Amino acid sequence: MVAATSTKDGWSSRSAFILAAIGAAVGLGNLWRFPTLAGESGGGAFVIFYIGCVFLLGLPLLLAEIFIGRAGQTDAVGSIKRVARESDVSERWSLFGGLGAVAAFLIVSFYSVVAGWVLYYVGVFAADFGQAVLAGDPFRGALEGESQEQISGRMGSLFANPALLLSMHFAFMGTTLFIVARGISGGIEKAATWLMPAFFALLISITIYGAIVGDVGEAAAFLFTPDWSKLTPEVMNAALGQALFSLSLGVAGIITYGSYIRQGTKLGSTALAIALADTGVALLAGLMIFPIVFAVGLDPAAGPTLVFQTLPFAFESMPAGSLIGLLFFVLVLVAAITSSISLLEVPTAWGVGELGWSRPRSALVFGGAAFVIGIFCLLGYNILSDFRPLGFWSIFAETDILDTVDGFTGKIMLPLGALLTSLFIGWRADRKLLERTTGLSQGAFAIWRFLLAWLCPLAVTIILVTGLFPSLLG
Ligand code: TRP
Repeated sequence: MVAATSTKDGWSSRSAFILAAIGAAVGLGNLWRFPTLAGESGGGAFVIFYIGCVFLLGLPLLLAEIFIGRAGQTDAVGSIKRVARESDVSERWSLFGGLGAVAAFLIVSFYSVVAGWVLYYVGVFAADFGQAVLAGDPFRGALEGESQEQISGRMGSLFANPALLLSMHFAFMGTTLFIVARGISGGIEKAATWLMPAFFALLISITIYGAIVGDVGEAAAFLFTPDWSKLTPEVMNAALGQALFSLSLGVAGIITYGSYIRQGTKLGSTALAIALADTGVALLAGLMIFPIVFAVGLDPAAGPTLVFQTLPFAFESMPAGSLIGLLFFVLVLVAAITSSISLLEVPTAWGVGELGWSRPRSALVFGGAAFVIGIFCLLGYNILSDFRPLGFWSIFAETDILDTVDGFTGKIMLPLGALLTSLFIGWRADRKLLERTTGLSQGAFAIWRFLLAWLCPLAVTIILVTGLFPSLLG
C-alpha cells in the first residue's frame, strides 16, 4: 500500500516549489510592466519605493499566502476554511479565496492576449533571423532596411487583424491549458524546472550583451538615482500595485501553489527567496532594456509600447540584433507561460477541490471560458474598439475591453484580496498554528505579524481608495 500522503499530487522537492513559484511571479509583470512603469515614472524614486513595497508589504503577504496553502492543503477556498476552523473563526473568510479564483480567471484571459503579441513577435524575429542565416549573415541587425514607422507599425497591423490576434491567443491559452491539465508534478513542475533555468540563462546573456553594446552607466543612473520630487501619490500608488501584481499576490495563487508543499519546508526563507528572485529579475530586466534604449537615443518613457515598438527598433541598429531580438521575445514568452499556468491553476484547483471535477475537465472549462473572454479583449482593438464595458463608471469611462479587465482586477480585486488576506492572517488566524506552520524565529514572527496586521491593511486600503477615487489625489 502506498501511504495516503504520497498519492496526493504535489511538488517533488522544496526547490521544485521555489522554481515554480518564481516562475509564477516572474512574468510580463517583470519584463514588460516594470520597465514601462519605471520609464514613465522617471526611474530612481519609483524603483526605490517599489523595492520598499516588495519587502515591507509583498514579503509578509507572500508568507501569509504560502502559510494558508501549507496549512490548508487544498484549493484556496478549502484551505482558508480549514485555517478558519482551526482558528475558531467564521468560515466565511473563505469568500476571498473564491474572489481570488474569479480574479485569477479574469487575469489569465487578458494575460493570454498580451502573451499572444509576444508570440507574434517571436514569429517576426524567427522569420527575420531565418532570413539572416539564409543570407549568410546571421549576426546582422534585425529587420534590416525598415524605417522606424514600418517597425512600430507592425503593432498597428497586428491589432487590426482579429484572426491573427485570435490564433496567437489560441496557441498561448491552449499551451497553458495543456500544462495545467497534466497536473503538478507531471505538468507545472516539469515546465518550471525546464523553463526557469533557460529563462535565467537567456536573461543573463542578454543583460551582458546590453552592457557591451549599450550604455549601462546611464541605465543604472536612471534606475537608481532618486529624484524624490518625482515620487507623486500616483507613482507610489503604481509602485504598490505593481508589487502585488509582480509577486502574484491577492488572487490566492500562492495559496494554491503553497498547498502542494510537503511538510517540513521552511516557509520564511522560501518566501524570501521568491521575493528576492522576483525583484532581482525586474531590476535585471531594467538593466537589460534601458542600456539598449539609451544606446540608440530612444525615449524611456514610451509607455506600454516600449517593449513591442521601441526595442525592435533598437535591435535594428545593433550587432546581432536579429538573433538577440529573437532571444529576447523567447525570454518574455517563457516567463509569460510559467505565470499563466499559475493563474489558470487557481480556478482549476477550485473546480477539482470544491466541485469534484477531474483536473483535465476543470482546466478545460476554466481555460475555455477565459479563452472566450480573451476573444472579447482582443476584439476591443478592432471590431469592438468603441465598446467601453464599464463606461458608466468614471474611472473606466475611456477604457477599452482589455484595459477594463486589467484595471478592474488590478485596481480593485487584487488589493481587496490582499487586504482580506492581511486582516485574516494578521488578526484572526490562530497564533499557535501560525508559529507551528511557518517555523519562524520569535523575532521574525513578531515583525511579520506586525507588518501584516498594521502596515499591509493601511497601505493596501490607500491603494484601493485612491485607485477608485483618483480625484482624491488632486
Ligand atoms: N506575477 C506575474 C507577472 O509578473 C503575473 C501573475 C501570475 C499574477 N499569477 C498572478 C498576477 C496572480 C496577479 C496574481 O507577470
